[in-house]
Amino acid sequence: MQLKDNQKTKRTKIEQSDIAPRERPSRSDASIDTRSSHQVASRASDPKIEQLNNLRYQARQGGGEDRIARQHQQGKMTARERLELLLDTGSFREQDPFVIHRERNFGMDMPDKQFLGDSVITGWGTINGRLVYVYSQDFTVLGGSLSEVHAEKICKILDMAMKTGAPVIGINDSGGARIQEGVMSLGGYAEIFLRNTLASGVVPQISAIMGPCAGGAVYSPALTDFIFMVKNTSNMFVTGPDVIKAVMHEEVTFEDLGGAMTHNSISGVSHLAAESEADCLALIRELLTYLPQNNLEDPPFEASNDDPLRMDDRLNTIIPENPNKPYDAKEVIRMIVDQGQFYEIQEHYAGNIVVGFARLGGHSVGIIANQPIALAGVLDIKASIKGARFARFCDCFNIPIITFEDVPGFLPGVDQEHGGIIRHGAKLLYAYCEATVPKITVITRKAYGGAYCVMNSKHIRGDLNLAWPTAEIAVMGPDAAVNIIFRKDLAEADDPAARKTELVDDYRERFANPYVAASRGYIDDVIEPRETRPRLINALEVLRNKRDTNPPKKHGNIPL
Ligand code: HXC
Repeated sequence: MQLKDNQKTKRTKIEQSDIAPRERPSRSDASIDTRSSHQVASRASDPKIEQLNNLRYQARQGGGEDRIARQHQQGKMTARERLELLLDTGSFREQDPFVIHRERNFGMDMPDKQFLGDSVITGWGTINGRLVYVYSQDFTVLGGSLSEVHAEKICKILDMAMKTGAPVIGINDSGGARIQEGVMSLGGYAEIFLRNTLASGVVPQISAIMGPCAGGAVYSPALTDFIFMVKNTSNMFVTGPDVIKAVMHEEVTFEDLGGAMTHNSISGVSHLAAESEADCLALIRELLTYLPQNNLEDPPFEASNDDPLRMDDRLNTIIPENPNKPYDAKEVIRMIVDQGQFYEIQEHYAGNIVVGFARLGGHSVGIIANQPIALAGVLDIKASIKGARFARFCDCFNIPIITFEDVPGFLPGVDQEHGGIIRHGAKLLYAYCEATVPKITVITRKAYGGAYCVMNSKHIRGDLNLAWPTAEIAVMGPDAAVNIIFRKDLAEADDPAARKTELVDDYRERFANPYVAASRGYIDDVIEPRETRPRLINALEVLRNKRDTNPPKKHGNIPL
């Protein structure tokens, strides 16, 4: 597009008479790009270098002191402060700091509406020495709203990330589409959505929500792999409280509608809820330690002091005598993994399934476990979706999946059936079936019905399927089974209660154990619970070079 003459004049005016005369930075102000500051200092008398130095300084001021003060008053850091905390010290290299928006209407051509770099800071740096691409929306500049150039800056970063194979972290703090730019802004969003989609499964994409994220803007984070939110200062929604009130006559606060805990515990949109921005950025740094840079690499190895042969005797007694009594699957996980460290994803959502990352013998693994202390570990709609998405992420990024199974089946009920448990349960099944990473299952107790098949059974390409002696593998639990197959017998019995106990005991002895499945080879071995850690580490070693493929196709059709 060609600039009109008057636009050219205004652009020149901004560049020369508005930007250039502002004050030159002190050394401490210009601390982010340390290498350039040093170079600038050594040639400070050169007017061209002086001008560069001035412009760089100006770009770093964002929306100015007042707006920065307002950001701080709201308990939020600035876009640059967040990047400084996220990245290794001094590693940030900024891109496009001199870009300015192109809008000339609505007074947007005035100098006080023009900001170097516009409303987003982009570039790259390192986290624990590994390359990452970043963008951080600057709320102090026009509310972090997304202009055409704002979108172009993000797209440039996403393109580079895909070409060079490194994760992208987007920090969101924005009033949404730049209203003054209309469709150019909408087009910009769509360009980002396209790239988020193309990058999906190529490089890990992480979104941090640190302020508003409203309207169609939510769909960029939604297309990424993990969404982090900060309690009390971030929110996400497609339509806000005012529109909801006008259209639906419902009153709701920003926090209740789309705050961190709403999306972590009710909608499942977000994967982690941080106490503060600093906490959020630290959690992102930690998450990356479990992930490879891209889909062609393996996750990083982190040498561990935890003995690979360590056996924890507590595991032998952790399953209660009474099969209906719960125990905490997270305790089991922590007793087995390196240093007991488990990085949980979606802790507050669908607690009946536990998912997250850990290390075994120094290697990253994804863990999926039924959780007996929540709804007896049953599979319902939410748990199926949560487990499926996590399994697919692991498969995208070469992270072996370890499944700890103790599942009484799928949750019965009209709500579940009408809510589509058939379709959603199929997601989990599909995700396990299609995964080609090493897949290991440990059945700790119940493996009943369809849930037995779904939770990485041997039949759907489980590589190693182990069971503890406490495992019960059958079509259904003894109680339910006896009620069905001995209905007549029970109805005719003199003492139905005594007869039932007898039949249940008999069924349990014959079927509710791992040995029927093991005699068929559906279970590769029955192990002492305390042996689990060494057996898993050994299996991961054996499976390190596993290669498996799916039939050639454009893509499958997961039941969405
Ligand atoms: C242009 C915007 C803006 C926007 C905020 N600002 N949002 N400028 N476009 N979308 C500007 C304000 O004019 C103000 O400028 C500065 O940013 C700070 O905004 P405040 O309102 O003073 O801040 P605050 O009180 O904290 O309120 C924040 C807010 C509110 C809740 C985000 O600004 C707001 O409601 N904004 C509009 C949100 C919205 O409806 N966006 C469109 C969503 S639809 P000054 O110069 O005074 O500092 C959408 C479609 C995307 O995004 C579709 C993609 C497919």
